[in-house]
Amino acid sequence: MRLFICPLCQSPMQPAAVTWRCDGSLNPKQTAHPFDVARQGYVNLLPVQQKKSKAPGDSQQSIEARNRFLTAGHYQPLQTLICQKMAALLTAKKANLEQKDKLINWLDIGCGEGYYTQAMAQTGMDVLIAADISKPAVVELAKTSKALGRLWYQEVKDDSASEIMKAAAIYPLVTSAAHLPLHAHSVDGISSIFSPILPAAFNEVLTDEGYLIIAKPDIGHLATMREALFDDVREHDSDKFLDELAPYFQLLETHRVSTKLRLSAEDLADLMTMTPYAYRARSEKRQALLAEVETKPFATEAKFVIYILQKTVVSS
Ligand SMILES: C[S@@+](CC[C@H](N)C(=O)[O-])C[C@H]1O[C@@H](n2cnc3c(N)ncnc32)[C@H](O)[C@@H]1O
Repeated sequence: MRLFICPLCQSPMQPAAVTWRCDGSLNPKQTAHPFDVARQGYVNLLPVQQKKSKAPGDSQQSIEARNRFLTAGHYQPLQTLICQKMAALLTAKKANLEQKDKLINWLDIGCGEGYYTQAMAQTGMDVLIAADISKPAVVELAKTSKALGRLWYQEVKDDSASEIMKAAAIYPLVTSAAHLPLHAHSVDGISSIFSPILPAAFNEVLTDEGYLIIAKPDIGHLATMREALFDDVREHDSDKFLDELAPYFQLLETHRVSTKLRLSAEDLADLMTMTPYAYRARSEKRQALLAEVETKPFATEAKFVIYILQKTVVSS
């Protein structure tokens, strides 16, 4: 499998059950760098020199809050739409493959604890690299993948009689989006669900005509919550990043999905913990909102936009 490279010297690296080791061929000292597989089944490919803080990415507390909120199903319409679109792209891709046994590799960058990632694993790709800079997020994702028997070293069950599509083999990695430990032209698609978007880095690792799926909050997302928390509500600037992607990608499709929510005090507390801008609200505003919800559910609407892009091949 020609997929992974060493985050330290960029030499090719092969997955192995206990320790991943690069071959050292691009290391001036010609020695191999080892990366142990953690007991939960993830590999930490984030060297200390690529860390900008001691514990980069989402905290344990925000991961737990998001896990509770998402598994309660509040954002399920978004999960369903992302997976429908992904399955359609992959079905078409498979039908057009010249080499029918070629594996389809996908990268979910900023996967968090994997609410969307686990659903994506059932859309038809063979290999799913689940990458996040937050170690606690990747630990959680690896534990779930292991329990479902989807980790890269587990035997993926292929029950041909079943209606359910064979799930992808998941590779949970702690890594930075800015230093992807992947060969150039090695993945057929990338998803970034509310996560960093790095146009040049994504372009580098995608195959020609590879896909990029991006999900973002849309205008009006959680409007009533933001009105309750802030005196001055600024709208999400939904598509500024599209200009930065334009040199490498063409926009194929844009989809919108919204869902009305009626949230309990616990749901709202979790939503505020997992939503970065809620941290910026004044404490009195947060407390007042939570007190109000003690007596009746809080009504709001989640609004999302999904962009599907394709890498443009520059002819030389
Ligand atoms: C808003 S969360 C979205 C998580 C997940 N995609 C979801 O929607 O449930 C953003 C994620 O990006 C991760 N992240 C932030 N900066 C990153 C980087 N430079 N490289 C990789 N992941 C990063 C965070 O740790 C966090 O898990």
